Amino acid sequence: MLLDVNDLKIAFATHTGSVPAVNGLSFAIERGESVGIVGESGSGKSQTVLALMGLLADNARVSGSAKLAGEHDETPSIELLNARSRVLRAVRGARIAMIFQDPMTALNPHLRISTQMTELLAAHRGMKRRQAMDYAVEMMEAVRIPEAARRVKYYPHQFSGGMRQRVMIAMALSCEPELLIADEPTTALDVTVQDEILDVIGDLRERTNTALLLITHDLGVVAGNCSRAIVMRGGDLVEQGAIEQVFESPRADYTRNLLAAIPRLEG
Ligand SMILES: Nc1ncnc2c1ncn2[C@@H]1O[C@H](COP(=O)(O)OP(=O)(O)O)[C@@H](O)[C@H]1O
Ligand SMILES: [Mg+2]
Repeated sequence: MLLDVNDLKIAFATHTGSVPAVNGLSFAIERGESVGIVGESGSGKSQTVLALMGLLADNARVSGSAKLAGEHDETPSIELLNARSRVLRAVRGARIAMIFQDPMTALNPHLRISTQMTELLAAHRGMKRRQAMDYAVEMMEAVRIPEAARRVKYYPHQFSGGMRQRVMIAMALSCEPELLIADEPTTALDVTVQDEILDVIGDLRERTNTALLLITHDLGVVAGNCSRAIVMRGGDLVEQGAIEQVFESPRADYTRNLLAAIPRLEG
């Protein structure tokens, strides 16, 4: 087991009182597994993963547990919820990486990609400049960016939206995390680019055995990329199970409605 989440509750303190966002969610992810969280907007998907990364807003109150397995069999697991920032900094980027809908939240607009990547590789993997540069180009090629050796020197704004998304994936995966969290990574992109990006992620995962927690409002995307699905609504767990089970015999009406909303899959 890589990640074990138990009874995760998140509420926000507001002027009008406590507003619940996640009401007791439990799930687990095995090493190398791909799990999808699906649900309409506002169901608590993003807050769930932000809690795991220690990135919730200051007015958030979190309870429950989220245990990340030790890096080696003999090392103890790490509690992520309400963890000290030192602990979270060691986990973020290195063991759990996250990509977002908007790549600019992860990229520095003022620095060349080569600079951002080599700094990351120096900090997390102790690479020297030359080695980091070669590796950065390799990662850019792995996410299928044409002319990677030249474009690695680009600034973020010099890439199109889809290409920028690839750059963010290359950065996220360059530290060989054990878990990649992708929060609606393709929602802003058109369908062809969306498929390509998901393909790139799938490819890299296969090579590195990285687990994936994919968040989307589109059950079709989960079906194409995940072996297990977690369905959420209004902060509640609706159901979770193997993708075949959720698709072929959904337990909840809500899931049936999500299924009805996806265009018919081929094959
Ligand atoms: N800082 C905050 N203060 C109060 N409520 C918040 C805050 N951040 C998020 N929320 C609420 O948490 C709920 C879940 O949001 P979110 O996890 O972002 O949903 P989604 O499933 O679309 O990713 C929403 O109702 C949202 O308004
Ligand atoms: Mg969200």
